[in-house]
Amino acid sequence: MPEHAPSDFWWRTAAIYQLYMRSFADGDGDGTGDLAGARARLPYLTDLGVDAIWFNPWYASPMADAGYDIADYRAIEPVFGRLADADALISEAHGLGIKIIIDVVPNHGSDAHPWFAQALAEGPGSPVRERFWFRDGRGPDGGEPPNNWQSIFGGPAWTRVTEPDGTPGQWYLHLFAPEQPDFNWGNPAVRTEFEDVLRFWFDRGVDGIRIDSGALLTKDPALPDVSPDEPPGPAHPFTDRDDVHDIYRSWRAIADEKPGRVLIGEIWLPDAQRTAAYVRPGELHTVFNFPYLSCPWDATALRQVIEEALALNAPAGAPATWVLSNHDVDRPVSRYGRADTHFDLARRRYLHGFPVDLALGTRRARAAALLTLALPGSVYIYQGEELGLWEVQDIPDELRQDPIWRRTGGEDPGRDGCRVPLPWSGTEPPFGFSPPGSPGEPWLPQPKEWRDYTVAAQSASAGSMLALYREGLAMRRHEGALRAESGLDWLPARDGVIAFDRGDVRCVTNLSEQPAGLPPHAEVLLASDPLADGQLPPDTTAWLRA
Ligand code: NOJ
Repeated sequence: MPEHAPSDFWWRTAAIYQLYMRSFADGDGDGTGDLAGARARLPYLTDLGVDAIWFNPWYASPMADAGYDIADYRAIEPVFGRLADADALISEAHGLGIKIIIDVVPNHGSDAHPWFAQALAEGPGSPVRERFWFRDGRGPDGGEPPNNWQSIFGGPAWTRVTEPDGTPGQWYLHLFAPEQPDFNWGNPAVRTEFEDVLRFWFDRGVDGIRIDSGALLTKDPALPDVSPDEPPGPAHPFTDRDDVHDIYRSWRAIADEKPGRVLIGEIWLPDAQRTAAYVRPGELHTVFNFPYLSCPWDATALRQVIEEALALNAPAGAPATWVLSNHDVDRPVSRYGRADTHFDLARRRYLHGFPVDLALGTRRARAAALLTLALPGSVYIYQGEELGLWEVQDIPDELRQDPIWRRTGGEDPGRDGCRVPLPWSGTEPPFGFSPPGSPGEPWLPQPKEWRDYTVAAQSASAGSMLALYREGLAMRRHEGALRAESGLDWLPARDGVIAFDRGDVRCVTNLSEQPAGLPPHAEVLLASDPLADGQLPPDTTAWLRA
């Protein structure tokens, strides 16, 4: 193992910006964000004060699931640019002191991946079909899917193919959309291929890998029916099986070939103990904290989630991670502005019918931002969170692109509402997202109200969400105690209030409906909204010098 320098542990306390490239900045004027746009806006991210960028998948893809359907893991999607642009971006970011994390999608590929095309062409029994999950159907003519598994995007998890001779043929498994066939991780070619993909990108200078759908990779080869009540874990046929950990042990050995590289798991499980198993020594470095992301705006629940995250990561020596949102969930400003403030994937369709109090949601999102930035470990900011953008709920049906929308027959609005292109400047769409006079419209329409939420408008306003994020990130970077990866001491607080010390910085959040007294302090360092008569108003966080 190579020697480690302190800087190799950058990821333990990093502020990581999630850059959803399609919606970040459009450099070539076609209405879709790209690498040229991202490169041009790197100074924005240095000003914001982040340490790393996580890019959602940037590979060649038919975009059936916004790039999570990958046709070539070693090529950049032409709409985004070329490999040379990615190389340039990596080196420019490094020059600015920013690390680059990319998304690898190992559970499934695209139906346009050459392996899948070959598997279809070669027919049943071909060794290439073994790299996926092809099976004969059930029923007299094989017309029923091989088992009862359902796609996470709705509908059956199996699609029947037409064989090369034109007859209805076998079925293949796709836990997501039909355009995303699942790889068979029991097949050695799959393991070798992905180990090579990791090395390909690490050799290009990438610092970290976010692992998509990390708990789903291995399946029970008998492919038994599953009961909807079966909890993820060793007995589940496709979620959180014990053998998935072998894969991450071999990936960790690859990451460890050079110091400072990190593996981050998207391990979306209800059981925090099972999630913590992924950060055992020799496996992943960190996992996303989904309990924190889904937690309602409630002091007791939040404190419990924070305590649990710290307790579960500690034995493995892993830092906790803190994340309020991402490209798959409702934006916090909207979530916190509804009567029900927790996020539940299964209930998205129902929540979208409920009114949102944006002023309240924004106030809470500001308080949540400072609370999050005060916690020990690494923190993620999903693009647009720093601008206080809301979930766009009125996207016209014909413009919606998320497969969840189509696969549920329009019942679930899907995730387009948190993926709307960013407003940068100006008073009319595309708000500087595309260069002036561009032929392409933004791929999703931006609300006209975002004229007051552009980067330019917020840069000029001391009370804006952007100003709060800039100040919070700068203070987190310079206050040693805040930036430390551990050390959180709870302070006594009344119901509805969370208070803790990070060394000589004291963080207090009032989640109740009454003003709260402040604990003893020498100075107010930063507050998410103005204090009133020395009291902390409802839905406000303050950082104090103890
Ligand atoms: C999780 C990703 O975050 C999501 O956007 C994607 O649709 C699924 N995995 C399938 O890859």
